[in-house]
Amino acid sequence: MNGDAASAQTHQFQAEVAELLNLMVHSVYSETDVFLRELISNASDALDKVRYEAIAQPALLAGDERLAIRVRPDAAAKTLTIADNGIGMDRQELIDNLGTVARSGTKAFLKGLKDAKEGLGLIGQFGVGFYAAFMVADRIAVTSRRAGSAETWVWSSAGGAGFEVLPANEAQAARVSRGTEIVLHLKDDASRYLQGYELERVIRTYSDHILFPIELIDDKGEARQVNTASALWQRAKSEVKPEDYTQAYRTLATAFDEPALTLHYKVEGRQSYAVLLFVPTSPPFDLSDPARKGRVKLYVRRVYITDDADLLPSWLRFVRGVVDSEDLPLNLSREMLQNNPQVAQIRNGLTTRVVSELESCAGKDNEAWLKIWNAFGAVLKEGLYEDSERRSQLLALARFATTKGDALRSLKDYVADLRPEQNEIYYLAGESAERLKSNPKLEAARARGIEVLLLTDPIDAFWTMMPQEFEGRKLRSLSQGDVDFGAVPLLDEARDKDGDTPAAADEAAILAAAKESLGDKVSDVRASQRLTDSAACLVASDQGRDRELERLLARANRSGGTKPILELNMRHELVKALGAAQAAGRTAEATDIASLLLDQAHILDGEVPPDPAAFAKRLNAFIVRGLTPAS
Ligand SMILES: Nc1ncnc2c1ncn2[C@@H]1O[C@H](COP(=O)(O)OP(=O)(O)O)[C@@H](O)[C@H]1O
Ligand SMILES: [Mg+2]
Repeated sequence: MNGDAASAQTHQFQAEVAELLNLMVHSVYSETDVFLRELISNASDALDKVRYEAIAQPALLAGDERLAIRVRPDAAAKTLTIADNGIGMDRQELIDNLGTVARSGTKAFLKGLKDAKEGLGLIGQFGVGFYAAFMVADRIAVTSRRAGSAETWVWSSAGGAGFEVLPANEAQAARVSRGTEIVLHLKDDASRYLQGYELERVIRTYSDHILFPIELIDDKGEARQVNTASALWQRAKSEVKPEDYTQAYRTLATAFDEPALTLHYKVEGRQSYAVLLFVPTSPPFDLSDPARKGRVKLYVRRVYITDDADLLPSWLRFVRGVVDSEDLPLNLSREMLQNNPQVAQIRNGLTTRVVSELESCAGKDNEAWLKIWNAFGAVLKEGLYEDSERRSQLLALARFATTKGDALRSLKDYVADLRPEQNEIYYLAGESAERLKSNPKLEAARARGIEVLLLTDPIDAFWTMMPQEFEGRKLRSLSQGDVDFGAVPLLDEARDKDGDTPAAADEAAILAAAKESLGDKVSDVRASQRLTDSAACLVASDQGRDRELERLLARANRSGGTKPILELNMRHELVKALGAAQAAGRTAEATDIASLLLDQAHILDGEVPPDPAAFAKRLNAFIVRGLTPAS
């Protein structure tokens, strides 16, 4: 040991790591096996990387070409060693990678833990990467030499107090000529990981699909490969067991759930490639990243190239897995990936295939499809906005809350239940289905038994801006432009409510008076086709942005400031009272009523009236007047 240098080289863990380690060290979690999966997956990543870098710099592999992972228990020393001859880490990489938490899943895990105190059961579900090793070891030494470098460094830590990074001594440097060796000093209760058969069981269970040979070294120093080490996606479907798919999915996607759908196929012809894709059950952590990046890994002839090739459009970014091409050049640069026509062709082929797989799931098993839709529907809807070619397919896949019952419905269901003379598909966008259900804009539709889609994802305000139609029927917003369901017959129970409206001349006078009173607070005042019970509502003009979009933009401080149109229910007593006040020359009263109607309409849309104090004052004045006996 370089004693005197040691204290100077002590580093603190990032706070999140310290928190994580505290959990690991005091772990009573029984499923500790996952630590080996994590270390082997890191070793496999490191081998992928060196193989990729060696395409441009073959010298990196010189003298040590066979890439492998070695697992060696030492019963006497109570250590377990996991070694790879991969890319390795230099001093700074050791400090950065093994001192901070980089992966978003781990951050989410810690956050979830704080919020819910769900405890250690989550470790296996989330995977905490390298730090999982502290579940079974009380001391860890990582000796690493970066490929192409002459320096070997040793990172060591006993958990809580921090870690040290020191130059390797001669013996250590001689052991690691490229890559990384991790020595775990096992805790007493983890001594089963000193037994070969136990290690073999764990490796076969979790890491069989790893592409590189995983060798178990016995006490005579003899190596034996324990995994299949062939690319799962290259195998025939009939040879692959469901649990192999699950493990491959978990490693490829850094996920811990079951795949909801698995696509495994080969394309041969002008281009040949193998595909193994998964639709997860639960949303991956990076799903809401603003970059909206997909994570499908590109391999070329079994060599990992990148997971940054955008092999699927953003609206399929929840799909995870691998594409392994036989034809692409190995030395593909990032720029080449962007413009490569072969990659574009693969991308198109994959997208078509994934969509048709989703369609077949939706057609076969509604319950399974609803689970996928509930997890990823909001992402798929981005495609309605972005991909005009696949718009009608995606609309058919979509499921909506509607005014008809609690089950999510497809547009096919909707169209099958159209009312006589109904030629359009109606929707209303807002924050929650519950809130929307009591929105007055639904009244006239309800009186005619017309079903209305209730759209509550923020993205809904955007894709509905594009012209959308299903089986020749346009989608129309109930809070935008004119709607006219006049031709659709009223339901019987609504018929008697259909009371009298004022004469045309009076109607015009009322609208003019309201418009006069409200000035530029609204762009227009109209008689409503939408309302039967409520007095007023706000809508957007036909050319303007839908009300919900306007609200979203206002919240993001990007309001275009388009004024809404106030619609009045001409049968309503308050509206008639406005007319009476105006006719009798009580202009101030007419103005107060018009303002109340406008404020109400804001409230019914779930908004606060623009001037809440004035609203309360006016309302109170009216109530007091109503309570005071006429003298
Ligand atoms: N055997 C290894 N060889 C090279 N780098 C490694 C090795 N193990 C870990 N690392 C580095 O440490 C980082 C952290 O590993 P980990 O905690 O498992 O998170 P993740 O694998 O999700 O990035 C890795 O991203 C990698 O850069
Ligand atoms: Mg890892």
